Amino acid sequence: MKGLILAAGRGTRLRPLTHTRPKPVIRVAGRPILHYAVENLKEAGVEEIGVVVSPETEKDIREALSGREVRYVLQEEPQGLAHAVAVARDFLGDSPFVLYLGDNLFQKGIRRFLEAFRPGVSAVIALVRVEDPRQFGVAVLEGERIVRLLEKPKEPPSDLAVAGVYVFTPEVFEVIRELKPSARGEYEITDAIQGLIDRGRKVVGVEVEGWWKDTGRPKDLLDANRLLLEELSPKVEGEVLESELTGRVVVEKGARVVKSTVIGPAFIGEGVVVEEAYIGPFTSLGPGVRVVRSEVEYSILEDHARLENVALRLQESILGVGAEVRSRNSLPRAHRLILGDLSQVELA
Ligand code: DAU
Repeated sequence: MKGLILAAGRGTRLRPLTHTRPKPVIRVAGRPILHYAVENLKEAGVEEIGVVVSPETEKDIREALSGREVRYVLQEEPQGLAHAVAVARDFLGDSPFVLYLGDNLFQKGIRRFLEAFRPGVSAVIALVRVEDPRQFGVAVLEGERIVRLLEKPKEPPSDLAVAGVYVFTPEVFEVIRELKPSARGEYEITDAIQGLIDRGRKVVGVEVEGWWKDTGRPKDLLDANRLLLEELSPKVEGEVLESELTGRVVVEKGARVVKSTVIGPAFIGEGVVVEEAYIGPFTSLGPGVRVVRSEVEYSILEDHARLENVALRLQESILGVGAEVRSRNSLPRAHRLILGDLSQVELA
């Protein structure tokens, strides 16, 4: 069994965070989203892993996965999930394979989907019940069998959304070859699966156990960060001086927490400086972040972001790599903002 992680998309709903970096390298609970995908595949016994990248995402994805044994497959244009699979044909060969969307997170891993993949089954699709399925693939089940599948339907026939893990036999390549682009101009994996169903093949739906997250929007990232931090094992390897740490807190090596209060669960990454600050629950600080004389909670600060001398507590915020928020005491007392395209600021 091989594994194929897709990481070639544009991540449009997460702009501006994804203007400069692909979504799967954004850190949640201190680690790039992609790490969780690789780990889940390995944990399920999948040894050979391919990662589909685009010319724009390749460099960052390789960096995020450095030291991990994976193969890279280049998809020149994000023409859809089925197209990404077709591009990886040489890597996948004639092996059954797991397709894993690189922006999806599964609390309990993916073993149960592989276990359901038995002789006579052409595909296993991970399913999850959601309140509003209109933004997902949606399945109609009869027993364990999926009898119909629709991509982002306006009127969903059920509340069973397609989560981002699929197991296939190589027969799926035959169906993909016959696909036409959908209304949104993509070769949809959903249409390929419907093609298998139309051929009379057995396509099985298996419900996700534990929580599942598609990290498509900023709110989802914060939510995923919260869920992962809930399971954090505390560990202090950095320096903690005249400070109080409460609850589950990780302070990685090279980090300094001085004259500060940290209430977990919270993740403080390598080389972070926290000084005269308050770090509240569900906060992750990436490597090299500085939080000085400021307060932050329920937030993600990515690598080398800075928060300095800000009087009001930051909440439900995401600062991208190298982003800075600070106040000055000199006149005129005004907000001075340099914001990239599609940035969002809410002032109290
Ligand atoms: O998250 C679950 C949903 O994922 C399913 O319910 C849908 O049926 C499925 O089509 C998919 O929908 P999305 O609209 O969320 O897919 P997205 O465009 O975000 O792509 C998912 C991942 O695949 C993302 O990490 C980028 C990558 N990708 C995407 C495209 C279109 C590629 O590697 N190549 C591509 O051409």
